[in-house]
Amino acid sequence: MCGIIGYIGKQKAASILIEGLKRLEYRGYDSAGLSVISREFGVETIKAVGKVANLENKINGRDIGGTAGIAHTRWATHGKPCDQNSHPHTDCRKNIFLVHNGIIENYQELKDNLVKKGHKFSSETDTEIIAHLIEEFNKKTDFKSSVLKTLKIIKGTYGLAIINKKEPDKIIVARLGSPLILGIGREEFIVASDIAAIIRHTNKVIFLEDGEMAVITPENCEIFNAKNKSINKGATELDWSLEKAEKQGFAHFMLKEIFEQPTSISDAVRGRLVVKDGLAKLGGLKDMAEKLRNIKRIVIVSCGTSYHAGLVGEYMLEEYAGLPVEVEYASEFRYRKILLNKNTAIIAISQSGETADTLAAIREGKNKGALTLGIVNTVGSTIARETDAGVYNHAGPEIGVASTKAFTSQLAIFVLLTLFLGRQRDMSLITGKRIAAEMNKIPRLIEKILKQAKAIKKITRKYTRYQNILYLGRKYNFPIALEGALKIKEISYIHAEGYPSGEMKHGPIALIDGNFPSIIIVPSDSVYEKNLSGIQELKARGGKIIAIATKGDKKIKKLTDEVIYIPKTLEMLTPLLSVVPLQLLAYYMGIQRGLDVDKPRNLAKSVTVE
Ligand code: G6P
Repeated sequence: MCGIIGYIGKQKAASILIEGLKRLEYRGYDSAGLSVISREFGVETIKAVGKVANLENKINGRDIGGTAGIAHTRWATHGKPCDQNSHPHTDCRKNIFLVHNGIIENYQELKDNLVKKGHKFSSETDTEIIAHLIEEFNKKTDFKSSVLKTLKIIKGTYGLAIINKKEPDKIIVARLGSPLILGIGREEFIVASDIAAIIRHTNKVIFLEDGEMAVITPENCEIFNAKNKSINKGATELDWSLEKAEKQGFAHFMLKEIFEQPTSISDAVRGRLVVKDGLAKLGGLKDMAEKLRNIKRIVIVSCGTSYHAGLVGEYMLEEYAGLPVEVEYASEFRYRKILLNKNTAIIAISQSGETADTLAAIREGKNKGALTLGIVNTVGSTIARETDAGVYNHAGPEIGVASTKAFTSQLAIFVLLTLFLGRQRDMSLITGKRIAAEMNKIPRLIEKILKQAKAIKKITRKYTRYQNILYLGRKYNFPIALEGALKIKEISYIHAEGYPSGEMKHGPIALIDGNFPSIIIVPSDSVYEKNLSGIQELKARGGKIIAIATKGDKKIKKLTDEVIYIPKTLEMLTPLLSVVPLQLLAYYMGIQRGLDVDKPRNLAKSVTVE
């Protein structure tokens, strides 16, 4: 899940590459590097361990010639983060330079062969073999044919950008299983793993498909399919602005994205909720309406935060659409023998639309004849393109590594989907109208919670010293307990466990004492009384308790140490509200512990490896 970028045009490449890398940095920040090429000076390569800022410091404002180049920000898979393992990688003669996102599975066997032929390797990476293979083929054939021959023998996944000192006016890029987008500017091209690195330069892009390759010069770009046939691909005009991808005065992207939720949820439901008819209009599912009417079962596949959104979706769809639903970690789904047929719909949920396990799960589902649907935020991403139909989140770019606004927009899409599928089945007009009307109010209710940010920050201060926290919730809010625990782990490195409140007495309660606080989500809903028993049990063991409760609940104040109130709404919509204080708690906890909340250690925003 590294980030790659390439530039070729009339401007100096180095600063454009650095600026692009910063926008890709959420994909990995173990090291960064670039190679700039020119006829006059050949190739100059600079690398630095750690974040892109370290690479920038190393360059220290120096003017680097060359109007073409490639760059990379790394999330280490093969080999520790160090200069030698940083990209760009090169061959023995230092002619070929390349950056790679993905994994080459047969690299060891290829490396052994190359070593026998006398090739000298300078890194522990899988990537370096690609440079040596191209070098080997380049002895007998031209640059492009050498790349083609190399791609035929490597197994695994790649997004690649390659330059050759002998042909300085050219970048060759190729994709298989890792995203690659080609931006078309005026007399310039910029290619990257993500739109965020391109949008400043142009909003005209071509999404490369698996097996495709492009040869790019400053004047032209020729795309070839897997059979090496030159093809014409139409460009897409994006409506994402650069402003949308920047911090707009907030200290961190995470905080900005938490505060953007009233807007991102409004954007997710805009034009789709028809309150008077109690319906959801979903353009992406229009052509599938009849097929969806016949669906008898739903399997949801996703990872991380998106998996938690799927769990909330399960409760919504079962209760209101009357469909049996299973939610699977995408990484486990692939290894199970789940019965699928044309009456099963698989819903893949993914912010990035590129998560390798989720993608593999929908491919597997397709093979078995299931209908595949996507709930995806990133327009044009692989999952969005490979599913039979889907619904975009419209949350805009999410840059903070820990997902916040994408999560609540996923929940909003599940509300729409519940209305869509429910009203095709037994849901009454009255129920549909009530859900739609309440859903419309959610953005305003979130604004009320955000106004309590200062108070939440204050509460956090009292809990920064604890090393463990238990998160509890029941029914619709059990997945929110899981999400709350995940957020605090990701952002503040505090060990946390999310549990269904009712399960607490079957194990976790053994951990509870004065040093092990709990956060319990206890809105005034159908399981309120049950949750109160759990609170009593925790209290009896001397555990401190923070409650997330519904405004007006005075009883809870007497039973717990702190209460954060959320406004009243329908039970099925409470997760859209209850998660917000938990996001803020995680954010402030991370800040108070002096951590980089936008780029937590060891994590990456888009996990394109299995
Ligand atoms: C990574 C990210 C998480 C995200 C998960 C699934 O682990 O750090 O924030 O929830 O991947 O990503 P997706 O893009 O498929 O939603």
